[in-house]
Amino acid sequence: MKVFFRSIRAEISFVIVITGILIGTGVGFFIYRSTINKAIDSARSRIETTMAFVKASRDYVRSTLRPKVDELLAAGCTSQDFILEAQSSSFFTASIFTRVNQEIPDMQLRQVAVKPLNPKDKPNETELWIIAYLKSKNLKEFEGITLHRGKEYFIKAFSVIPKKGCLRCHGKVEDMPVAVRNLYNPKEDPNWPVGQVNGAVLVYVPFDKVMEQARIDGIVNGGLVGGVFILMSGIILLILNFRVFKPIDALRDRAEKISKGEIEQPIPYQSENEIGKLAKAIERMRVSLKKVMDMIG
Ligand code: HEC
Repeated sequence: MKVFFRSIRAEISFVIVITGILIGTGVGFFIYRSTINKAIDSARSRIETTMAFVKASRDYVRSTLRPKVDELLAAGCTSQDFILEAQSSSFFTASIFTRVNQEIPDMQLRQVAVKPLNPKDKPNETELWIIAYLKSKNLKEFEGITLHRGKEYFIKAFSVIPKKGCLRCHGKVEDMPVAVRNLYNPKEDPNWPVGQVNGAVLVYVPFDKVMEQARIDGIVNGGLVGGVFILMSGIILLILNFRVFKPIDALRDRAEKISKGEIEQPIPYQSENEIGKLAKAIERMRVSLKKVMDMIG
């Protein structure tokens, strides 16, 4: 410090400003993080509710609707081999997703897979990355904040791991029910790998407003806290200025004058504090000097 500062005033001011900036930045960042975390919690609970409905719908198709239709088909009620709308939970989920996406436009539900039946379900770059990540870590879920169509979203992704039964429609083209083949007209065999992550069910919750609010909150509150700290320290500095620095300057002035021989005028002192004592000491020195000078003179 000695090297940098020739005045205690500057030294204290410097420490105050740096501390203020550090405190402000720390508080700002803390508020930014906690705003985002709060929003993530609320997004999570929205996603949980949505996924509960999706799961319930899929289970209904698998456990109730499909066996019933299977039974009817087996009894020879129709000439069809498979009724997509009633027997495929993937098809059913896709229909539910489309409706939910229309109903709640600010949320997006997607099911994607590598080599999909429906070309709309081809993963984008981010989704491909998420699938690869889920696959490499062998995870069931992933969540994070990412850019999607130029906007920030909170994404939750659930792994799609094909089972053997899935290959009926996601394996070879020749094995697919005619209804599936006719609808999607696949050019090549999807051949999904059994037991490995090959896709994901994704929920997108818009997050750009949250991020913006968190940034503003962080900057404003951090600035406020840092500002209040600097202001309070400024007031303390002002008090120090009147009570310490100015009297010291005055004493130094007098000491300089005494050193030049101006020893007639007494140094006034009122207080018993550190500066008062210093003034008293200098006054005693002046009186002694004056005695010596008078003796010589
Ligand atoms: C009886 C046929 C059938 C079976 C069996 C089937 N699916 Fe599907 N699946 C479909 C159809 C049809 C679509 C396309 C829905 C659409 O239009 O988006 C689809 C789409 C998907 C998609 C979206 C990607 C794509 O290919 O378009 C995923 C993921 C998916 N299915 C997962 C599974 C899983 C996992 C299983 C096994 C547990 C399974 N499916 C079994 C018919 C089936």
